[in-house]
Amino acid sequence: MILNGEIIGGNLKTIHIKTAQELAEFGQQYTKENIEPGDKILVKGTMGAGKTTLAQGIANGLGLEVNITSPTFSKLNIYNGSTDFYHFDLYNLEDPEELENLGIYDFTESENGVSYIEWWDKFPGFFSSPYHLIEILITDTGRQINTEFISC
Ligand SMILES: Nc1ncnc2c1ncn2[C@@H]1O[C@H](COP(=O)(O)OP(=O)(O)OP(=O)(O)O)[C@@H](O)[C@H]1O
Ligand SMILES: [Mg+2]
Repeated sequence: MILNGEIIGGNLKTIHIKTAQELAEFGQQYTKENIEPGDKILVKGTMGAGKTTLAQGIANGLGLEVNITSPTFSKLNIYNGSTDFYHFDLYNLEDPEELENLGIYDFTESENGVSYIEWWDKFPGFFSSPYHLIEILITDTGRQINTEFISC
C-alpha cells in the first residue's frame, strides 16, 4: 500500500547490494523474473541513489542492448525492441497537466512496452495500480532495495 509516496507495508521484499554493477544485475534478474510487457515500474530514491543505474539493468533484462542515459532533461527516453522501454524522469515536472502533455498514458497503458518512472512520488495518487514499486535506499555499505507488487 502506498501513502504520500511512502511504502507502508504489504508484500515487501528487501535485498542489499554493494556496487552499482550489482544494482544493474539485480535489475536484470528482477525483470526476467517479474516483469512483463505492459507493466509499470515506479522507482523511488533520493538523488544519486541509483534509479537510472537500475534502469540499465531492467532494459537489459527486457533484452534491449542499449546504453541508458538519464532522461532528466528530456523527461522521457524511448527504447524500441521486442519489448519497448519507456524511461521517464519527472524530476523537472511540477504539474500533472505536464505529465498528460507528455502523453504519459499512451506509454503506461501500452501493452508493447514497460514504463519505468523515476520521481513518480512527486505525483502521489497519479499512477493507478497494478504497478511494481522499487525503493532504493543508500546505506553504509551500498544500497537497500525494497520491492513490492501492488495489484489493486
Ligand atoms: N551501490 C551503488 N548502487 C548504485 N549506484 C552507485 C552505487 N555506488 C555508487 N554508485 C554511483 O551512484 C550514481 C547513481 O547515479 P544514478 O544516475 O543511477 O542515480 P539516480 O537515482 O538516477 O539519480 P537522479 O535522482 O539524479 O536521477 C552512479 O554514478 C553510480 O555509479
Ligand atoms: Mg536518474
